[in-house]
Amino acid sequence: MNASSPVLLFDSGVGGLTVLAELRRQLPQAPVIYAADIAGLPYGTKTEAEVAARVAGLLGRMAERYHPRLICIACNTASTIALGMARDVLEIPIVGTVPAIKPAAARTETDVIGLLGTEGTVRQVYVDDLESKFAKGKRLLRHGANGLVLLAEAKLRGESVSVDDVAEEAKGLVLQAHGSEIDTIVLACTHFPLLEDELREAFGQDMQFVHGARGIARRIVNLTEGQEFRRSEPDFAVTTGDPDDFEKLSDAFTRHDIRDLRAF
Ligand code: DGL
Repeated sequence: MNASSPVLLFDSGVGGLTVLAELRRQLPQAPVIYAADIAGLPYGTKTEAEVAARVAGLLGRMAERYHPRLICIACNTASTIALGMARDVLEIPIVGTVPAIKPAAARTETDVIGLLGTEGTVRQVYVDDLESKFAKGKRLLRHGANGLVLLAEAKLRGESVSVDDVAEEAKGLVLQAHGSEIDTIVLACTHFPLLEDELREAFGQDMQFVHGARGIARRIVNLTEGQEFRRSEPDFAVTTGDPDDFEKLSDAFTRHDIRDLRAF
């Protein structure tokens, strides 16, 4: 293993920064390439076939170009749809991001859990399986809130995003039968923790929010245990989209020690 081989963090946009923040805490010495498929964003409104083909194809090309030691698909939509396929076609370890239903089930006191994800994620069989495995005897209410992805993208570009905008996109979660009994919400999209302050205001201070970033970073630490890390060049981020638009995210990336933004 080449000590400067990076960890490749992949998302449709800036959502993966929530995972990067945890990775920096747990494995600061790991060189990272952040890859944002902004030309493909949002994934949550696409079909399963579109997401799977796009993610597997892009990861293959990125693996060839950057030789990562490990890929993290820091996106629930892409992971719940395409993790199996990506693992089939690539030989490097791939860590996925799946809805944190298990920790939410351990924390709920009302036994009613909310799951806020993209429409693409909330309808996946993968989520049905997690529900039957970890939330037996509890109620899991789902809501696809694609609009929150765009609000998180706007917020990180420095645009103003109001609590009302966020509440409007998210309210379908509680406006369903038993919705008022929800005490714990799974943020099942890596973009959503970027709006946690607004969501907390929208749902009230007593609501508990759970997401998987810490566990994902821990998994990366475990899978790379014993490996050497050397940063031979500064970390950078790539986009499949418009480089001028990507520059608007420079403050957000700088906060995570990435100052070099490039086109893929
Ligand atoms: N960040 C992605 C996720 O975790 C979704 C964003 C999108 O819809 O592109 O699901």
